[in-house]
Amino acid sequence: MKDTIRQLAREKNAIILSHNYQPPEIQDIADLCGDSLELSIKAAGTAADIIVFCGVHFMAETASILSPEKTVLLPNKDAGCPMADMINPASLAAKLKSLPPMPVVTYVNSTAAVKALSTVCCTSANVIKVVNSLDADQVLMTPDRNLAAYAAAHTTKKIHFWDGCCPFHDRLRASDIQQARQTHPDAIVMAHPECRTEVLEIADVVVSTSGMIRYAKTSDHRSFIVGTEIGLIYPLQKENPDKRFYPASIDLMCPDMKKITLADVLDSLENLTGRVKVPEEIRIPALKAVQDMVALR
Ligand code: 13P
Ligand code: SF4
Repeated sequence: MKDTIRQLAREKNAIILSHNYQPPEIQDIADLCGDSLELSIKAAGTAADIIVFCGVHFMAETASILSPEKTVLLPNKDAGCPMADMINPASLAAKLKSLPPMPVVTYVNSTAAVKALSTVCCTSANVIKVVNSLDADQVLMTPDRNLAAYAAAHTTKKIHFWDGCCPFHDRLRASDIQQARQTHPDAIVMAHPECRTEVLEIADVVVSTSGMIRYAKTSDHRSFIVGTEIGLIYPLQKENPDKRFYPASIDLMCPDMKKITLADVLDSLENLTGRVKVPEEIRIPALKAVQDMVALR
């Protein structure tokens, strides 16, 4: 099936993008695996006619926002993001009414409609750069309160936050890290900015998923405790066969990131199923927020 998918992708001039949390067999057939920022940049610049996005719905929407002329496919339409669903345009508009005017920084893990009401987007890889680039003393950050707290610790601006989170990263506690450290005393603790402050404060490094892969590759250390979704263990181990990676908690698993199968990708490519198209009235305002982020890198 893998060979058939690759053959079909060539024939149809399709590019297959995969998030670092996708199942191993999906990562293996992708043209590019990466974090949200890398995938957004690739989706903005590709010459392919079709983008097959192996990730969750908001990622395919971002590709559609950046490349409206391309066919964007999400091979399993049920792959969503519970954090993205914790905010909607009406609730954001109500919150904005209760605050003095200020820019809105929205994590890419959000719907296109929420991006359309935002000043600029950010990912876990560029959040501090984005917040500090704004000419304002106060900023509203949505929808991840943990990412907002992380940004607040690295800026002099006052950060107002939305009370959302990734339900899986939010489960990880400092006690899990302490326990993992007891079992693997020589390991470096890497944590994703979607984790709680209590976790980030005791981690050795706080980076995005691809940031973890780069860090592990260049580090002299031999073992690592991985404070993010357990799917990342696969690319970490593949890139660093001589190093050891231990999940900070086996509970850190996102079911939506595991929904896409090889059969879904094949069906999607064969029949162009799972099309994601953001309507123009949402795409145009959302584009500015995403483009301004991509321009900052
Ligand atoms: P990134 O590290 O790719 O930003 O991923 C976090 C995430 O939760 C994607 O859904
Ligand atoms: Fe959303 Fe968390 Fe799953 Fe990422 S890991 S898609 S933030 S629920």
